[in-house]
Amino acid sequence: MLQMVMQALVTGAASGMGAATACHLATRGFAVTGVDVDAEGLVRLQDAGVTARSIVVDLSQRASVAEALADVEVDALVNAAGLGPDTENPRLIWSVNLLAPMWVASTVHLRSGGSIVNVASITGELSDGRHAELLAHPLRDGFLEEVVLAVPEPVDAYMYSKWALLRETDRLAAGLAPEVRVNAVSPGVIETPMGTRGTKFDWTRKAMERIPAGRLGRAEEVAEVIGFLVSEGATYVSGSRVTVDGGYVASRRTHRAPPPLPGSPQLDRIVDEGRPDA
Ligand SMILES: NC(=O)c1ccc[n+]([C@@H]2O[C@H](COP(=O)([O-])OP(=O)(O)OC[C@H]3O[C@@H](n4cnc5c(N)ncnc54)[C@H](O)[C@@H]3O)[C@@H](O)[C@H]2O)c1
Repeated sequence: MLQMVMQALVTGAASGMGAATACHLATRGFAVTGVDVDAEGLVRLQDAGVTARSIVVDLSQRASVAEALADVEVDALVNAAGLGPDTENPRLIWSVNLLAPMWVASTVHLRSGGSIVNVASITGELSDGRHAELLAHPLRDGFLEEVVLAVPEPVDAYMYSKWALLRETDRLAAGLAPEVRVNAVSPGVIETPMGTRGTKFDWTRKAMERIPAGRLGRAEEVAEVIGFLVSEGATYVSGSRVTVDGGYVASRRTHRAPPPLPGSPQLDRIVDEGRPDA
């Protein structure tokens, strides 16, 4: 009997967690399509035999996403592309981190029984619901203009784009059931090019000292969790958020201090408050 090869599409496949996820899914038998703006990185991955196909596209452009991915049919979609809080242009952060996963999900054809994993962040998990109304319908006309005016600081744009991505994950999970499952992973500080650049922020350095696991995470450790979420082992898992952070978010949540305030000072407070009481 002819067995259909499972197809996976991984955005951000040229680097970090996207690359690790592409490798992991390939070892699990998926034919992986790598998507990234970094053409050289994609070629490296394909030459190494990890990906079956590469699609070079700038995910910050809705029209390019629609054009490049329209004919793609997949069982697993992993939205790992992202820009860090060190990105100068907040519009790009909002586009790539929040809108692109939704554009991609609504462009590719997801086979019944398939699943989506959005790569969010612990900053999204720890942020409050400030701007909830503004962020309620990110696909509406004029959203980008409004959100860039309201939340112009890159660090805030990063945090709230990830918060909104988690909420859109919930919404998609409810909307696409029962044909497609949708989940999110929220990595802590992970050793990737972005994670390493992030150490220039005081709050990242302070956070790093307070990870219960006592070390940073590796991209492969996040890829393992993504691999589980798209697997047969997770057929009843949808709308879940899995933190892959060495216990950091749990330690913040169990702290006795009142909930932190929003905005970038929030991040300082989260990490300044120290370890939870034993
Ligand atoms: N590294 C961390 O500590 C950390 C922590 C929490 C969340 N995250 C999130 O994990 C995801 C992966 O991050 P990473 O650490 O592997 O980063 P990375 O910088 O190593 O990889 C990100 C990839 O996204 C691609 N990308 C960026 N803009 C793009 C665009 N416009 N179009 C197409 N591709 C684009 C880059 O080319 C790169 O290959 C991101 O969404 C990031 O926000 C990272």
